[in-house]
Amino acid sequence: MAKKPDRTKVEGIVVASGENARDFPPGTEVVGHLRSGAHATFITVPVAAIVHKPKTLTWEAAGGLFLAGATALDTLDTLKIGADDTIVISAAAGGVGSIEAQLAKHRGATVLGTCGERNFDYLRQLGIKPVRYGEGIADRIRRAAGGPVTALIDNFGQDGSDLAEELGVPAGRYRSSADRRDTEVRLLQNDPASVAYGTELLARVTHLAEKRAFTLLISGLYALDDVASAYHDLEKLHSRGKVLLGTHLVNSRRIVKARDIYEAGR
Ligand SMILES: NC(=O)c1ccc[n+]([C@@H]2O[C@H](COP(=O)([O-])OP(=O)(O)OC[C@H]3O[C@@H](n4cnc5c(N)ncnc54)[C@H](OP(=O)(O)O)[C@@H]3O)[C@@H](O)[C@H]2O)c1
Repeated sequence: MAKKPDRTKVEGIVVASGENARDFPPGTEVVGHLRSGAHATFITVPVAAIVHKPKTLTWEAAGGLFLAGATALDTLDTLKIGADDTIVISAAAGGVGSIEAQLAKHRGATVLGTCGERNFDYLRQLGIKPVRYGEGIADRIRRAAGGPVTALIDNFGQDGSDLAEELGVPAGRYRSSADRRDTEVRLLQNDPASVAYGTELLARVTHLAEKRAFTLLISGLYALDDVASAYHDLEKLHSRGKVLLGTHLVNSRRIVKARDIYEAGR
């Protein structure tokens, strides 16, 4: 398969397929997931780990879906988020948070997202109520929620359980950053059940993206030669949506780097 890779997510065009891959003949556009080794131009992928790429999704958006999208979907499923919920999602402008927040909204929930002020307009555009993180956050959440908070997801990993307690979030309706990491670890296991679960979530998240239940914002797109810059962006912990790498970028003009957006807004 010729591909536009990153480490665990693959997307590309099938160049050869085996007998068990009749649904994926050469020429089929696919999205898939691997445990490692996705930084390559050609790669062999088990049929159990790929789904069809919808024509309407760009390669970049399709390639950014797996780990963040599957983690977001698993988290919302675990909490059974629905139309009766008022949910707080931390780091709501980040890769995982922005998908979670949009999908929670798509399920009919009222969604509050914590972020820095530069992301207020981005979240408002998605129909999410932005709340600045930091000192006094509980009061700001209460004012913005206008009623009980029924669920809380901590993506950032600071004081989430204290905040959930202070807001009176019901038992069992709080997901910590450590819970999220457990999900990611499960999604990166290589046993058949974990691979199948990852593929099932990828198929659902791809379908949700195709029907525009959410949009994946890509704030950084780097050529593989610039991989160090891409990781430098991520280390700043202020990327908006996703930062991606591509081996053979069609357009060599870089999308503005995530950290430039952050630094320009300071
Ligand atoms: N991105 C992925 O594909 C992916 C996939 C699976 C798991 N994960 C994991 O999920 C976690 C979240 O990743 P991410 O990529 O969504 O975001 P991240 O890169 O870890 O963090 C970026 C986000 O954090 C926010 N933020 C910064 N300081 C904050 C604070 N003090 N309180 C609350 N939010 C704050 C930023 O908002 P502002 O810019 O508005 O300040 C920005 O939206 C990480 O642990 C990551 O390893 C990521």
